Amino acid sequence: KDGDSQKVILDINKKAALFYHEILKKPEGEKALSYLKARGITEETMEIFKLGYAPDNWESLKSFMLANDMPIDYLLKSGLLRKSEKTGNYFDLFRQRIIFPIFKYNGDIVALGGRVLDDSLPKYLNSPETEIFSKRNNLYGLFQAKDAIREANEVLLVEGYVDCIKLYQAGIKNVVASLGTAFTPEQARLLARYAEKVLILYDGDEAGQKSALKAGEILHAEKLQVYVVLLPGGKDPDEYIDLVGKEDFLTFIQNNKISYIEFKIDRYIKNRNALYLEDKIKIINSIKPDISGLESEIARDYYIKILAQKLQLEENLVYRELNRTYRPKT
Ligand code: GTP
Ligand code: MN
Ligand code: MN
Ligand code: MN
Ligand code: MN
Repeated sequence: KDGDSQKVILDINKKAALFYHEILKKPEGEKALSYLKARGITEETMEIFKLGYAPDNWESLKSFMLANDMPIDYLLKSGLLRKSEKTGNYFDLFRQRIIFPIFKYNGDIVALGGRVLDDSLPKYLNSPETEIFSKRNNLYGLFQAKDAIREANEVLLVEGYVDCIKLYQAGIKNVVASLGTAFTPEQARLLARYAEKVLILYDGDEAGQKSALKAGEILHAEKLQVYVVLLPGGKDPDEYIDLVGKEDFLTFIQNNKISYIEFKIDRYIKNRNALYLEDKIKIINSIKPDISGLESEIARDYYIKILAQKLQLEENLVYRELNRTYRPKT
């Protein structure tokens, strides 16, 4: 019974994605098509990601679905139609938005994301959590990227749908995006099925860097090898690749990627204006779990050395502070 229900909701999502996708080629989709082209997205890429457009109409999906005999209770369950509290009428969730279908790793379309064409808010809107979709278990772009991820044994993790699409289009295909919310351990475990290395390439602004630290923590805890790149000028990956092109983009990453632990140390140091000895001790103790959690002694020694250099302390002092057993006051 549950399985049947899931099948119907899956079918609704697939039909909806294709319905919106076809609109891109029609006169009512013209605005959306120019928007996507203006962002440098080619028609080939629109096909691969099945991008679409939900027009300025409260009932376009509703009419289509009802004409196709889709049951209203499941349409509501999918979240793509909603019921007005006031009038009791059904209406479309997405209106005047670019549609980004969200594929599960196996190619099923389990949800839709939608972006406004202007500066109105909310900028992005996703399908709600349903029987077939939970944000914490999915990653945008994974279905398209998975072979490339396996091949490279590495995945690039970005924040935005467009970042993901633009890197893929440039030929950097081992890329996925987290779904707007905080990165989860489930998403880390999903990635661990395809690769051992994760390169976090979040937005270069402060918000992005903060999220990068949190995502790194989770990936590191799941035993993935985690690297971080801080993009210059607070840029998003999609802006930066437009600016410099694929080759320079890859070179920048190659030259500027640092391990998650180093990224964390750098952030701790940067967030304090003057480093007093007490600050240094605090930093050492904040990094302690990350370093002592490393299985390899070589790796532990390496990071102790780096930490000592960055804090301008004797290596063996750092070493002793890290190995000091903490005795709580009684
Ligand atoms: P673009 O302007 O299209 O380049 O967006 P962006 O991806 O750069 O957006 P931003 O960096 O602000 O946010 C990163 C990701 O968070 C987006 O791709 C969305 O998945 C998600 N997000 C951003 N704004 C919202 C919002 O208002 N609501 C929801 N649900 N998600 C959002
Ligand atoms: Mn098509
Ligand atoms: Mn951002
Ligand atoms: Mn952006
Ligand atoms: Mn962004």
